[in-house]
Amino acid sequence: MIFAGIVAGGMGSRFGSDIPKQFLKLGNKPIVVHTVEKFLLYSKFDAIFIGVNENWIPYAQDLFKTYGINSEKIFFSKGGKDRNLTIMSIIDDIEGKFGKSDDNIIVTHDAVRPFVTLRIIGENVEAAKLYGACDTVVNSNDTIVESDVERKEIRSVPNRKYMFLGQTPQSFNMSKLKIFFNNLSESQKSELTDACKIFTLNNQKVHLVMGEFSNFKITTMSDYKIANSLLEIKFD
Ligand code: CTP
Repeated sequence: MIFAGIVAGGMGSRFGSDIPKQFLKLGNKPIVVHTVEKFLLYSKFDAIFIGVNENWIPYAQDLFKTYGINSEKIFFSKGGKDRNLTIMSIIDDIEGKFGKSDDNIIVTHDAVRPFVTLRIIGENVEAAKLYGACDTVVNSNDTIVESDVERKEIRSVPNRKYMFLGQTPQSFNMSKLKIFFNNLSESQKSELTDACKIFTLNNQKVHLVMGEFSNFKITTMSDYKIANSLLEIKFD
């Protein structure tokens, strides 16, 4: 079966609004509603799980009702302490409701990337089936420089040809993701910045799917302003 795991369990501390940024309105509906609507358009999902901080679940459920999203494919899960724990909580709920299978695919996606396209979602599903794991990336048009630990001087300038910026979705064979996550030490888990690293730390290959610059993450107020100004442009 094919599942979507939309991670919406963060509190948006860098954004600094009263409510978590994923619930703010972008045009005429909340960011998370835009994002989930994209996933509903992709008909191959058996279910779409949305991971939300426990205290915000009733709010999120009401929000989806208010905006007329009442698909039977949608379920809410408790968010975890960090992004990967939100994914693990979603996986537990999927396995609880639909049972375990070594063939299950999970497409994980940030709620705060509302401009994801059907092309990106479709290529993620196919790549996860074929390769077991994939990341969505865009070319790094700027040169990436790596600093020393003090962040004062350049340590290296990697060849730009092989540098990409990671986005989401990140999609996986679900049982492998769980096994590889549980293989990590607590200190490895605390250093994870994304889910693909769970695979690379276990010496597993992760296939690349090309994303779009428009599929950016709304992290700060200025990202939010850019997202509002992009709303009129059609990306699909
Ligand atoms: N996320 C999550 N569970 C967490 C933390 C983050 O599901 N415990 C989700 C966020 O809701 C977001 C995505 O992961 O959709 C990317 O995270 P980020 O942009 O860093 O969001 P926040 O954690 O909300 O922001 P900040 O780091 O500024 O607090």
